[in-house]
Amino acid sequence: MLKLLLALSSFCLFSFTAQEPAAPAAPASIPPEAAHMVNPVKPTAESQAHAKKMYGYDCAMCHGANGNGKGELVADMKLTLKDYTDSAALKDLSDGELFYIIKNGKGQMPGEGDREKTEDLWNMVILVRSFARK
Ligand code: HEC
Repeated sequence: MLKLLLALSSFCLFSFTAQEPAAPAAPASIPPEAAHMVNPVKPTAESQAHAKKMYGYDCAMCHGANGNGKGELVADMKLTLKDYTDSAALKDLSDGELFYIIKNGKGQMPGEGDREKTEDLWNMVILVRSFARK
């Protein structure tokens, strides 16, 4: 009887964990090894043009076409976004942290996941930083 109970409860536990959604919610914190990653990409005019195009499709509706944080979804989703044209906005985040957030998402932001190549995501990090007024 005890054995049956044990088997039953571990089965319940298993089916409970098996019901986790396929795409897990964005992780709450960035692993230190990810934060320390160094951008391996040297931007070219071509790679930045591609990043800009991608940004227009996947990011501008929230972050704004020029990164000012005033995209068209901000009001509907009640988002509070940083203004990347302010050079102070991203100063406390490393390239690795930006890469990680763009890939995996954070809070209400969906990540790019595997939709884009690693190299393209690093170009996106460079583009996001380039919004800052010099
Ligand atoms: C649905 C709206 C939405 C979209 C689309 C979106 N983001 Fe975000 N993004 C957010 C929100 C909200 C945060 C703040 C998340 C938090 O801190 O909880 C954020 C955070 C970030 C951050 C971290 C720095 C910061 O502002 O806190 C970066 C970098 C970033 N987004 C870049 C991008 C890029 C690049 C894309 C397109 C590939 C993108 N985002 C698409 C909403 C969005």
